[in-house]
Amino acid sequence: MTEQTPRRLRYAMVGGGQGAFIGAVHRHAIALDGLAELAAGAFSSTPERALASGRALGVPDAHNHASWQGLLEAELKRPADERVDAVVIVTPTDSHFPIAQAFADAGFNVVCDKPLVHTAEQADALVATVAERGTIFGVTYNYTGYPMVRQAREMVRSGALGAIRKVVVEYNQGWLATALETTGNKQAGWRTDPARSGIAGALGDIGSHAENLVSTVTGLAIEELVADLGALVPGRALDDDASMLLRFMGGARGVLVASQINAGLENDLRLRVSGEHGTLEWRQEEPNRLVHHRGDGPTQILTRGAPWLCEAARRAGRIPPGHPEGFIEAFANVYRGVFADIRARSAGTGADPLDADYPRVTDGARGVHFIACAVASSSERRWRRFEDPGRV
Ligand SMILES: NC(=O)c1ccc[n+]([C@@H]2O[C@H](COP(=O)([O-])OP(=O)(O)OC[C@H]3O[C@@H](n4cnc5c(N)ncnc54)[C@H](O)[C@@H]3O)[C@@H](O)[C@H]2O)c1
Repeated sequence: MTEQTPRRLRYAMVGGGQGAFIGAVHRHAIALDGLAELAAGAFSSTPERALASGRALGVPDAHNHASWQGLLEAELKRPADERVDAVVIVTPTDSHFPIAQAFADAGFNVVCDKPLVHTAEQADALVATVAERGTIFGVTYNYTGYPMVRQAREMVRSGALGAIRKVVVEYNQGWLATALETTGNKQAGWRTDPARSGIAGALGDIGSHAENLVSTVTGLAIEELVADLGALVPGRALDDDASMLLRFMGGARGVLVASQINAGLENDLRLRVSGEHGTLEWRQEEPNRLVHHRGDGPTQILTRGAPWLCEAARRAGRIPPGHPEGFIEAFANVYRGVFADIRARSAGTGADPLDADYPRVTDGARGVHFIACAVASSSERRWRRFEDPGRV
């Protein structure tokens, strides 16, 4: 039997118009592997800018929409086999829920950026809709896509560190060290506005990545936490600095920091996981290296692309070792996972878990519950039990 070349998938994008940040990163990442092409969109919050953005991206007029509602309506009018295979949502967080819920409910596969939605109730509703419709829903916790993060995950799973005792995750940035939102900066504007960002600032924007990274690499479930959130730049309504202690099921302890007021720092995400036999350290600003401090021998520096890495890490690289890979490739790895799952689903086969390696709607929902729990802990100044809705 001859194998058929798989059809190139087609995706629509909501958000990511002119002047936006992350939409272009998603498009570059998807283009990297050529598995899917941009076929439709509603790229901006105003109709004129939405249409102009789509035209600049080469989207044909019939598929270029002034609003996401128009996109949905037009897609639903097409025969099922002519609809897009996935809808990518890269708008500010306040619009994630209505858009994601509408497309998922209509049977579309969705990829949404983090944090998933504003409230725990919205998160639970979305999880229920996706389960009912049986659609695919990925959340772009892009740090899970780095080869050396996948290597760290495998080393924890395989017991290389022994039982995990301590996890320290820090996500430090400096770009909100001044009141940038008062200067007209678009990205700072909505992130510091409770109406648009929700109940959390730095905690939601980058603390959600930190929570997801810990969960992905260690597999540990948070049992309790105590958080101290603050707005250290005067006049800010939402936290720009978050510190937290974590207690995990099984006894491990953790520290999580998410802060955007560290003047001079760029994107300093770092993770340290210590077990009975050793410690792993990974830093996003040097993502091609994973440091393994062994309790029984010299420290090893593992590098991306080396033949002795686990299969998940090797598959997540594209070029030989020594040529740095980074942010866009990690996003592309999340997309590879989503597209593999979409392909397997439409072929009626189960996807190989190594291929369909991407964060799901349940991971996004856990992140939203985590944010709510930390905000409550900080305002009540006490430890809170963390209820992960996905925990069985
Ligand atoms: N995974 C990551 O590393 C990462 C990094 C940055 C941002 N993000 C997330 O991506 C999302 C977007 O962030 P950003 O920094 O790119 O924001 P941005 O403000 O730069 O861009 C948002 C875009 O969405 C458009 N938009 C807003 N409302 C819309 C609507 N109703 N319909 C269509 N388009 C609409 C805006 O016009 C703009 O083009 C947020 O959820 C953010 O948390 C994730």
